[in-house]
Amino acid sequence: MDSVIEDVRLRKIIDSRGNPTVEADVLTWNGFGRAAAPSGASTGINEVASFPDGGVDQVIEDVEDLISSEIIGMEAEDLREIDNVLHEIDGTDNFSTIGGNTAVAVSMATAKAAASSYNLPLYKFLGGIMPTSIPFPLGNMINGGAHAGTNAPDIQEFLVIPVGASNITEAITTNINVHRRIKAKIQEKDKTFTGGKGDEGGWAPNLTNEEALEIQTSSCEEITDETGVLVRPGLDVASSEFWNEEEQKYVYEREGTSRTVEEQIDYIADLIDTYKFFYVEDPIQENDFEAFAELTSKSGKDCLICGDDLFVTNADILAKGIEAHAGNSLIIKPNQIGTLTDTYNTIKLAKANKYVPVVSHRSGETTDETIAHLAVAFNAPVIKTGAAGGERIAKLNELVRIEEELVNPKMADL
Ligand code: PGA
Ligand code: ZN
Repeated sequence: MDSVIEDVRLRKIIDSRGNPTVEADVLTWNGFGRAAAPSGASTGINEVASFPDGGVDQVIEDVEDLISSEIIGMEAEDLREIDNVLHEIDGTDNFSTIGGNTAVAVSMATAKAAASSYNLPLYKFLGGIMPTSIPFPLGNMINGGAHAGTNAPDIQEFLVIPVGASNITEAITTNINVHRRIKAKIQEKDKTFTGGKGDEGGWAPNLTNEEALEIQTSSCEEITDETGVLVRPGLDVASSEFWNEEEQKYVYEREGTSRTVEEQIDYIADLIDTYKFFYVEDPIQENDFEAFAELTSKSGKDCLICGDDLFVTNADILAKGIEAHAGNSLIIKPNQIGTLTDTYNTIKLAKANKYVPVVSHRSGETTDETIAHLAVAFNAPVIKTGAAGGERIAKLNELVRIEEELVNPKMADL
């Protein structure tokens, strides 16, 4: 009777893009957990459904009672059982009845309520007393694609990771230094730049991919030289967004070019080689395991080749990728799969096969800080959660607090 659930409440709140999302409160007799679901703009086709057809309003009207009547009286600490019950209540294989966002908010709030019942922070409740390492923050510098306006680059995200940082504050500051340098360089190049940002807090400039790459990578070099903290570039190509199935080509609209699958592989391999990329996400569209594998065999020794839309945090799809040797890293977004138990199972499979897990925010976020705890608890060496903007900084500042609590904290092994 240590963490018996007494109440579950769902409410409609608003995310960073201004869209409605769901927040869950779970109360135990002596604890409380609250969590909110994020949402994507460049979602993978194999993600679970975010909401039932009637959206958040239907969740509040119908689903809240369905869930609370089942899980009130259960122990919050029996998270696996509660996650099973969420699957049972839903009854589909993609959470289309209750919504994956509902499931994830309830699952995370339940875990937090259990932690609170034992007076523990979430990372310690989930990860035990052994975690000592802090993930490196992969920060968003320039936004393009589905996260920015019409004249921004086709590539969705130009990222950086401060691999030389010795603590989280240095890591966050290094990313901010690069973010500022990039702004100055954009302004130099485009006198009309107003300082506009995209959904994830990166600048949204009127630049080609090539110009953005040049600014991103030269800024990394300069900040490394000036501060002595090595910071390396990364990309989220989000290429499913501009893959044209009919033409069988990657269509770069802003650039006015298109690339066949082989040309895309060569283009990305070339970028990795030229600019020494540390990380490239979704360089190939979500259905093409073969091309993903080809690029991994070309460039995977030098660079993390990460699947987001490709794997959608789904252990079955990851198993297929492992078999095909597609990628060597994967994005972990709990709301792509719906529960913490499913998320954990995917991370476990990834680690057993030496795929590097990157715990990630979504483009539509709230100030919910849960993913900071998940990254530490699950020992993920990288967290992708922007560099600036309140809903991004909420996660990074939580890492500052977690680091303060850890005994002999260190940055993760990369
Ligand atoms: P999304 O994009 O949250 O809009 O799906 C983020 C990403 O592709 O990593
Ligand atoms: Zn992505």
